[in-house]
Amino acid sequence: MNCTKCKTKAVIDLPRHNAAFCKGCFNVFVHDQTAKAIKSQKMFGKDDRILVAVSGGKDSLALWDILLKLGYKADALYVNLGIGAYSEESHRKVTKFAETTAAAHGATLHVHTVQEEAGAGIKELAQLIHRPACSTCGTIKRYQFNRVALEHKYDVMATGHNLDDEAARLLGNVLRWQEEYLDKQAPSLPASLEGFAKKVKPLYRLSERELAAYSVLNRIDYIVEECPMAKGARTILYKEVLNRLETESPGTKQAFYWGFLDKQSKPEAAPTTMAERDQASLHPCSVCQQPTTAEVCSYCKMMARAKTHSASSCPPV
Ligand code: AMP
Ligand code: FES
Ligand code: ZN
Repeated sequence: MNCTKCKTKAVIDLPRHNAAFCKGCFNVFVHDQTAKAIKSQKMFGKDDRILVAVSGGKDSLALWDILLKLGYKADALYVNLGIGAYSEESHRKVTKFAETTAAAHGATLHVHTVQEEAGAGIKELAQLIHRPACSTCGTIKRYQFNRVALEHKYDVMATGHNLDDEAARLLGNVLRWQEEYLDKQAPSLPASLEGFAKKVKPLYRLSERELAAYSVLNRIDYIVEECPMAKGARTILYKEVLNRLETESPGTKQAFYWGFLDKQSKPEAAPTTMAERDQASLHPCSVCQQPTTAEVCSYCKMMARAKTHSASSCPPV
């Protein structure tokens, strides 16, 4: 198998593009796809300060690497969730990348440790407030992404969501017709309030397999294991189903998700989107000033519940 572009030996085939690439041409392909996503969705420019949310996994570390190599000003945030060995290992991978590749580009890593602020890791916190670990985790991550972006005046926040993530999420939303979530699935979401960072997903044109190949070829050391709390999650099943369809008919995933984006971009498709309606009712949380549609935001409510529960479970002195 030879590279479609330069005819030397190919290292990867891409059936959905009817192509095969050598390492050099594959890197150009990955960088081009990311640059195309940034441009077509008006995500950010060369003067903007970007905060990349890095988990230690292949997608977000590849994103940080690509943005730095494309010449963007990209720092990163890692949230240590306190999930035992998994968090320790992912923290190590992020620190290693920050101290080598990122440092060579003059980029900085911010770290937020849940245990330090909340007094417990995600698992214990979720048990304390009787909520599933994944939703507790989601609230904390969203909150910390926004807080750090605001405190350090970043213009935009980028996550490593890829084509597989977005197609699986779309499938889940469509299967249940969760229309309220559909218009929040754009790869570029405007700032929810004046002064808050917009949120973007520059890797939505690249698949999980392509990003794994990019990381391996470029010697990015990432954590291979999935979060232990995610076992049995429905998105894993949706990804498996989509992968079967993709094998039978290459290009299915991109036709599904990009087709949805095409329809969504037509103004007549959504005169007033749910996101716009939500935006109109947002105001600062009365405790922490972050945007919320309620009096007190869900993070502050969660922390208050955790405090009450931990106080009531303390033995009397
Ligand atoms: P996931 O929801 O685990 O698929 O992660 C989606 C994206 O969220 C990743 O690509 C990262 O950009 C970001 N992310 C997930 N976990 C963390 C974390 N612990 N710290 C910082 N960013 C994260
Ligand atoms: Fe949030 Fe696993 S990453 S619970
Ligand atoms: Zn709050």
